[in-house]
Amino acid sequence: MEVEVSPHFTHRELIDQVEFLKRVLKIENTSRGLDLGCGEGVQLKIIQQIARETYGVDKEKSIEIDKFLHLNFFEEQIPLSELDFVYCMAPNFGDDWWNMNPLLQNIYKVLRNDGLFLLDLFSLNSYKDQESRTCQDNIGQHEAYRNENCLVQTSKFYNSKKLEMLIWRIFSKDELIELFAKHNLVLVRDFKGFTDQAANWQPNKQNDRILVLFQKK
Ligand SMILES: C[S@@+](CC[C@H](N)C(=O)[O-])C[C@H]1O[C@@H](n2cnc3c(N)ncnc32)[C@H](O)[C@@H]1O
Repeated sequence: MEVEVSPHFTHRELIDQVEFLKRVLKIENTSRGLDLGCGEGVQLKIIQQIARETYGVDKEKSIEIDKFLHLNFFEEQIPLSELDFVYCMAPNFGDDWWNMNPLLQNIYKVLRNDGLFLLDLFSLNSYKDQESRTCQDNIGQHEAYRNENCLVQTSKFYNSKKLEMLIWRIFSKDELIELFAKHNLVLVRDFKGFTDQAANWQPNKQNDRILVLFQKK
C-alpha cells in the first residue's frame, strides 16, 4: 500500500517529483537552491536531504521547515543570491498572475548566471475528464472551467464541507517565453507532451501540465 505523505501526492509520486527535479535541475550535494511557494515543504524536505543549502519561501508561515523564509515574493525581495536552481511547483498566485514582473525580478536576482528555474503549472488539460473538467485526488473532488484566460477551480474536500475556489492564469507557451525573456530567463527545455514519464504526478496522469525550464542568461 502506498503511504500518504502529502494530501496531494502519494509517497511514490513525491519521490517521482523529486527525482525529476534532481535530474532536470542537476541537484547535487553542493548545489544551492530555492523552492518558491514551498507550502508544507513536501518536496523541499526531501531535496534538503540531498542539497542542504536549499531554502523555502512562502507567504504562509511554516514552523517546521528548515531554511524557511516567510515572505511574499510579489512584494518583497528574496534575500538570497548566486543560487544554482529555483523551482516552483503548482503555484496559485491569485491576482498576482496579472503582474509577474516582481516575481521574475526576484528569480533573476537570486540565480547565478546560467542558473536554472523550473516552473510546473496546471493547464486546462490537467483534468482527466475533458468534458466536465473534473478530477479527484486524495483530498477531494475538483472541477474546473475556463473563464477567459483563467482556470477557475472549485474544490470540495472529503473531510469537511469546505468549498474552495482557486484561480490559475492560463498562459500559452509563447506568452510565457516572452514574459520570461524580458527578464533574461531563456527557455531551455519544454516538457510539453511530457514524454518524460517522471513528470506524471497527480492530479494529472496524462502529461498535460505546463512544465518548462528556464536559464538565467
Ligand atoms: C498550490 S500551493 C503549492 C505548494 C507546493 N509547491 C506543492 O507543490 O505542494 C502554492 C503555494 O504558493 C504560496 N504562495 C502564493 N503566492 C505567494 C506569494 N505571493 N508569496 C509567497 N508564497 C506564495 C501559497 O501560500 C502556497 O503555499
